[in-house]
Amino acid sequence: MRLRKALTMKGVPRLPGDKSISHRAALISAIATGETRINNYSASADCTSTLQCLKDLGVPVEVDSGSVVVTGVGRSGLSRPEGLLDCGNSGTTIRLLAGILAGQKFDSTLTGDSSLRSRPMERITAPLTEMGASITSTEGKAPLKIQGRDPLRAIDYRLPIASAQIKSAVLLAGLNADGVTTVVEKAPTRDHTERMLEWFGMSVGREERDGMRISVSNGQPVSPGLLKVPADLSAGSFFMVGAACLPGADITLEGVGMNTTRSAIVDVLKNLGVAVEIIESSVECNEPVATIRVRGGLGNPSNDLPSQINGTIIPNLIDEIPILAVLGTQLPNGLEVRDASELRHKESDRISSIVRNLKLMGADVTEYADGFHIKPSQLIGARLESYGDHRIAMAFAIAGLLADGETEIAGAECSEVSFPGFFQTLQGVVR
Ligand code: S3P
Repeated sequence: MRLRKALTMKGVPRLPGDKSISHRAALISAIATGETRINNYSASADCTSTLQCLKDLGVPVEVDSGSVVVTGVGRSGLSRPEGLLDCGNSGTTIRLLAGILAGQKFDSTLTGDSSLRSRPMERITAPLTEMGASITSTEGKAPLKIQGRDPLRAIDYRLPIASAQIKSAVLLAGLNADGVTTVVEKAPTRDHTERMLEWFGMSVGREERDGMRISVSNGQPVSPGLLKVPADLSAGSFFMVGAACLPGADITLEGVGMNTTRSAIVDVLKNLGVAVEIIESSVECNEPVATIRVRGGLGNPSNDLPSQINGTIIPNLIDEIPILAVLGTQLPNGLEVRDASELRHKESDRISSIVRNLKLMGADVTEYADGFHIKPSQLIGARLESYGDHRIAMAFAIAGLLADGETEIAGAECSEVSFPGFFQTLQGVVR
């Protein structure tokens, strides 16, 4: 994919349905009893992997003009798959599905592409094993062979890493455990699983006591229905940052998920003086939703220190850090990101992917084990790598619009993992 410097950006780019919410809608509707219609389900490769795994587990799934219809088989109604369950590139699919499969009576094996097979899985196999499942991995990596146990043992589990995927795996396993399963998180992570369980009629305990304690119990009916997935704010962040950096830009994102455990990107842009307007807000499937308008132009900072992003805000913008790094090059005092070592365990080692591509574009950047420091830099077009990572491909597409000359991104088609048609959508708004 080749990109050239843009003059500005205008329009209303259509975003896919939220990826995290789509996965949860499909997985929980599979264990409900009866039919759930999911409107605006993400057509991304990752969310398609979730649907294929559910079909392989005997769940009737139909895709019907932009909606997905799942006929739930109940919490103990999944059937033993004939072959391997292929989660493709999707960390959310493998980790959340492992939580559900840990409490089934049959054995199953979860695998994925080479990127997914290189990512750490011990973080979920440890608590699920404590609950009574037997899981075999290859040195803590997929394929994961799961011998389920029904019922599992309820546990009280303090998250060692701020990760919504680990939290969700344990909570979903808790639906098939004998008693109350509690996960304790010291920093808030996205709470879509909790909200989706509630949408399906289950009660989820939340209590602030030495961290947030989130509890579920078994035996609760899972009631199906009709739900609409909000548009994906993380997908929208590429347009928000592109607009912020391009003078005269005016972008509107409609019906976007604005869950506070995801929306830190909006606060960061506002704090940088970007004109971000929240036009209308509502609620869809127990999730806050809004229309967001972003107009071009970065404000002038009140001091000469680099912007700092670190600490407990990191999990709330973890997927936006590649595009924030591109933004950092345009900030008058640059940007420092710390406490983000989790980025090294994403679809690629994102700290390394960001730093390498920025250096190729002539940026002045220092790499740390847990982040990076970027000095303000005029970017120059270069031949970049996506490293097979959708968010790197899309972040550097925006960098290409800001750079002098031509930028080429090898393997940019991996953007389909979360945003089908990203490059056409981008072309539609660039001027
Ligand atoms: C996700 C959680 C995050 C995020 C990922 C999606 C989810 O991962 O990076 O893209 O849907 O739960 P971790 O929870 O492992 O940080």
